Amino acid sequence: MCGIVGYIGGEQAAPILLDGLARLEYRGYDSAGVAVYTGEELEVAKAKGRLQVLSDMLQGGRAIQGCTGIGHTRWATHGAPSDVNSHPQVSRSGRIAVVHNGIIENYSALKQFLERQGVPFTSQTDTEVVAQLIEYFYEGDLLQAVGRVLHRIEGAYALGILCADTPDQLVAVRRDSPLILGVGEGENFLASDVTAILKHTREVIYLEDGEVAVLTREGVRCYNHFLQPVEKQTSHVDWEIDAAEKGGYEHFMFKEILEQPEALRRAIFPRVQDGQVCLEDFPLTDEDIQGMRKIYIVACGSSYHVGMVGKYNLEGLLRLPVEVALASEFRYQQPIVDDRTLVLVISQSGETLDTMAALREAKRLGGKVVSIVNVMGSSIARESDGVLYTWAGPEIAVATTKAYSTQLAVLNLLGLYLAQRLGTVAQEEYQTIVQELLLLPAKMEQVLENRADIQYYASQYFNHASVFYIGRNLDYALGLEGSLKLKEISYIHSEAYASGELKHGTISLIEQGTLVVALATYSRLFEKAMSNVVEVKSRGADVLALTTEGHREEMGKVANGLVTIPDTHPMLLPSLGVVPLQLFSYYVALMRGCDIDKPRNLAKSVTVE
Ligand code: AGP
Repeated sequence: MCGIVGYIGGEQAAPILLDGLARLEYRGYDSAGVAVYTGEELEVAKAKGRLQVLSDMLQGGRAIQGCTGIGHTRWATHGAPSDVNSHPQVSRSGRIAVVHNGIIENYSALKQFLERQGVPFTSQTDTEVVAQLIEYFYEGDLLQAVGRVLHRIEGAYALGILCADTPDQLVAVRRDSPLILGVGEGENFLASDVTAILKHTREVIYLEDGEVAVLTREGVRCYNHFLQPVEKQTSHVDWEIDAAEKGGYEHFMFKEILEQPEALRRAIFPRVQDGQVCLEDFPLTDEDIQGMRKIYIVACGSSYHVGMVGKYNLEGLLRLPVEVALASEFRYQQPIVDDRTLVLVISQSGETLDTMAALREAKRLGGKVVSIVNVMGSSIARESDGVLYTWAGPEIAVATTKAYSTQLAVLNLLGLYLAQRLGTVAQEEYQTIVQELLLLPAKMEQVLENRADIQYYASQYFNHASVFYIGRNLDYALGLEGSLKLKEISYIHSEAYASGELKHGTISLIEQGTLVVALATYSRLFEKAMSNVVEVKSRGADVLALTTEGHREEMGKVANGLVTIPDTHPMLLPSLGVVPLQLFSYYVALMRGCDIDKPRNLAKSVTVE
């Protein structure tokens, strides 16, 4: 949720830390701070608000001198956003500084223990407990003190630790929260996300849960939870840094919306060979597939909405029950999972804590877990039995766009792959879907070319206080995503309803001028969708409709506004339909002057429960 960077080497640390934090700011942005060893002591600078406040305070980093430091950008969990609650948190002597992502669940008991020993606390954070506890155990060896602390703290954490008595080293720890090490020449890094250090090195070490690392200028040593040395592989990161930069666009979100056709090409094309879907390294044998009795799809937020589309598509293709669960509910609902259940875990970041916990529960129950993940080497990818990467490239905007589209494409590919093995799809139908999948990027480009229409509708409706998205079946699943996109970046209240449910209560909210976005792309239910449009219009609603080219004329007769997408196979309609909805949300948020890439109260990767 928050961002961590650490540096040890021959350069000035503060500018490197600030630059790294700028690339991580999408992970959390209510306050930021750095601690740098100046040659005698730790100098700590922290500021509430965006990173720019801290950067201005430190003149871009020139105001603090020193070649070893840690930095943090925060999304508050314990203690409101404030200077004092920002990280780094320091021990009472000021000689130990800690940056932390995650939550220390037993911090209250530990705090009481330390207070009884006379340790005073200055912040409301759980992180300060870690700094104070390390000092409490410190007897000249930082690693040993950290080791003792690790056996006492519970929860999820990635920690970067710097001690003024041992300034030739940084200590890093991870449990259930991402942390990587960057290996350079005469310098080394730690970071919660590879984007923070990519400018300096492409050689990274992924720490496993419970592992500890000591970084010096010369190298990196890794240990297990009991501080026994462990050998680690270095991985090479091969994507370009400009993939994580705005490249002239005003917002990452807009850039990422436009990148979708290319991202789809990367996700789909290598997986179709001679008209057949090929999934390399798919972990299930044909026998496993034949034995499958049920599929569970588990995810959060937009990834869950991908799962909702997946339910319709996979049930149609496989004739197997597909259940979609919110990851945050899954492990508390006594899910029925066994070794004949395929559990599909969907996560852009691969680090969402709820999704991770659901994955572990599914494995514990004997399910076979295949994940659909964007971030290579992420925790979910590593703990799954198999992983299908979405290859969307780095997604920086908090509101997901290209990750959604590629997740959907990969899920459809997986559906085809399984259906062929189960013999539940006719060859002709299979070929049609595969062909349409290959055409999807070009069709999406057509949708993007018509964005001026959507911008116009955004200008008509951006002042509305409340928006309803209605649709049936696949259009309902699509509406869930459209509605989430709008509310998360424009702060307009919005809800998605299955159209047939309107008459069971929600229609009472429709009055003169209420904006209803009617999704009517699914041909089979078009007539019913039309009836719902007429129904809400007769109660005074303003209807902005989304349908396919083939239905343009008919829908044009009743809707107040109309956006169309090219015709395609029904399974793929949400893949095209989502684009106008993303653009609509984007333009509305732009016109309302919202902070599009960093919406309030949110963060890109949610590593707390
Ligand atoms: C979508 O725009 C969101 N910001 C959010 O719902 C996101 O999809 C959710 O937090 C899940 O994230 P993940 O895919 O990284 O697990």
